[in-house]
Amino acid sequence: MDESRLVAAAAEARRRAYAPYSGFPVGAALLSKGGRLFTGCNVENASYGLTVCAERVALFKAVSEGVREFEAIAVACGDAPCSPCGACRQALNEFAPDLKVILADGEGRSWEVTSLPELLPRAFGPSDLEG
Ligand code: THU
Repeated sequence: MDESRLVAAAAEARRRAYAPYSGFPVGAALLSKGGRLFTGCNVENASYGLTVCAERVALFKAVSEGVREFEAIAVACGDAPCSPCGACRQALNEFAPDLKVILADGEGRSWEVTSLPELLPRAFGPSDLEG
């Protein structure tokens, strides 16, 4: 799947965001190595702290469907591209330490490409618990 389709899926998912408190809708589209697409949006809560980011919604949907290997994620938010929060970087690192990360504006008109190793250098992951 090319970058523009992944970005378009993230921008579409963003339209389903439940973000009445922040007013900051975010969408994500996570592509598995097998070519399956999982989308997510941020889901806020009146208690604030229970909010879940778009990236983790997409990731947990995929893992709960038995999919654990991923190629790329696109994130769509705001007037300009924004970057996944620290918690989402860590959650993504668990399954896809080499993930391609596409950062797009909310409408999916422009984007830049980076990677999880760039966003989360010297990450703590499953292998750190071995031995
Ligand atoms: N948010 C995401 O969904 N993903 C990010 O990468 C950054 C932040 C959400 C959480 C909250 O609902 C809103 O954006 C403002 O922080």
